[in-house]
Amino acid sequence: MLYVTTPIYYVNDSPHIGHAYTNIVCDIIARFHRQDNKEVKFLTGTDEHGQKVEKSAIKRSIAPQEFTDKISINFSNLAHLLHISNDDFIRTTQDRHKTSATKLWEMIYNSGYIYKDYYEGWYSIRDESFYQESDLVNGKAPNGSDVEWVKEESYFFRLSQFQDELLEFYHNNKDFIYPQAKYNEVISFVKSGLKDLSISRTSFKWGIPVPDNDKHTMYVWLDALSNYLTGVNFPDCNSNCFKQYWENGKKIHVIGKDILRFHAVYWPAFLIAAKLPLPTKILAHGWWTNNGEKISKSIGNVIDPVTLINDFSDIPQDLSVDYLRYFLMREIKFGNDGDFSKSKLITRVNTELANNIGNLIHRTTSMVKRNCNNQVPELKGCEVDEILITTEELALECIQNIKLYKFSEALESILNISSTANEYIDKQSPWKLKKSNPQQMNRVLYNLLEMVRYIGLLLIPFIPTSAEKILNQLSIPKDQRSTKNATHKNSLTAGSTILDPEVIFHKIEQ
Ligand code: MSP
Repeated sequence: MLYVTTPIYYVNDSPHIGHAYTNIVCDIIARFHRQDNKEVKFLTGTDEHGQKVEKSAIKRSIAPQEFTDKISINFSNLAHLLHISNDDFIRTTQDRHKTSATKLWEMIYNSGYIYKDYYEGWYSIRDESFYQESDLVNGKAPNGSDVEWVKEESYFFRLSQFQDELLEFYHNNKDFIYPQAKYNEVISFVKSGLKDLSISRTSFKWGIPVPDNDKHTMYVWLDALSNYLTGVNFPDCNSNCFKQYWENGKKIHVIGKDILRFHAVYWPAFLIAAKLPLPTKILAHGWWTNNGEKISKSIGNVIDPVTLINDFSDIPQDLSVDYLRYFLMREIKFGNDGDFSKSKLITRVNTELANNIGNLIHRTTSMVKRNCNNQVPELKGCEVDEILITTEELALECIQNIKLYKFSEALESILNISSTANEYIDKQSPWKLKKSNPQQMNRVLYNLLEMVRYIGLLLIPFIPTSAEKILNQLSIPKDQRSTKNATHKNSLTAGSTILDPEVIFHKIEQ
């Protein structure tokens, strides 16, 4: 059982390429596991409470609920457009979530980890985060956000009591955070000492009221983090869903590096306090910039994935979606920052998908049509050629890379299969073999079809629409498309019919 989640997105703003990236990473993880018939629950959604969202609604002179209803749809539409296979879409304004967050608060409270006091200090509305005087750089938050001085009555969470328990947990779960550098960062942060955390505000109302004291609104991060429990039926801890996914399943939260502390420190501490199981893994990805600049609304360089996809007007929309998915996964190694530019996307798509993989498929299927009447050639003798052994090894490498969240490297393994196949065509010149050695021609074409089959299988999580086309082209039955079929033991059946060649990856005109 696997439970995979994206962060829930603030509705103060429209979706951008960074949000698309997180969705796609989760989608690949989800599809990869489903491909092998594992049960997966994949949750995404929107974070709709808090001062930031309230301010955005006021600015537009509409009620917060009306505002969040409007913007939340942009995020669910984006998921749909990008072929994100989420099973659920959560909104923190839903009743199921309010019940869940309230219950979590009560459980933490009843365990004695919440007390009332006064908060006095810095707060950034943009980050919905508290800062110490020592955190500030030139009077601003370390990431440049404006801060304001807040003094109000507040409930506090006894985070300071969790230092040892958290460190012990990290020690016992060395792969809790990926990449490793982020794991080390979290440990240093916790070692440097934890202060109690203010978890309620009185200066605004747009949020979930604190149980038994509705003068206080729950801190938006406590509200937001509990969405992961809401998604598995909490507070019904006896439900199958909760038991399967939260109690006994593998739970992966994919997030951007800027919200690591909330997920790797506060969230486990809340859960320990509430005596609930902890997530299995936090995957923290890097940030996308636009032509070298940080993407931000104030700079005006936000890349809207919807516009981007629709901009490739000569390319069918489903294919443009696959192109964007491919580029985002291929361009940066997971955990690193990356720079987005449309020209880089076009170059990668044209060279790697159209020229390398696309050409291979087209050349292979065209030769099979011309020389074998669209039938998988008969293979005399049963030994497997060296080239298929290499392919199987590359496929294994690809699968291993996906398991290690090395998505760019996984795509590289697939490209290596394709490059190997293209070189093999050039070396073998099967068109010359027809007369001189038809048996060898059959062998070569068979090997090439097999290599295309591996490529189709391995591309399923990344670019599902195109991968399906590749496999349909080879008439691979639906029940033979798992990664377990990426071995020579599950090879194509001689004599079976493939479809007429079709261009799968159209080039994008510069
Ligand atoms: N609402 C909180 C998350 C609560 S989860 C319990 C939040 N929302 S956000 O909309 O501001 O950010 C959502 C995600 O988008 C974060 O993981 C953040 O890292 C990611 N990104 C925002 N800008 C980004 C880039 N420019 N590049 C990549 N991802 C970035 O934080």
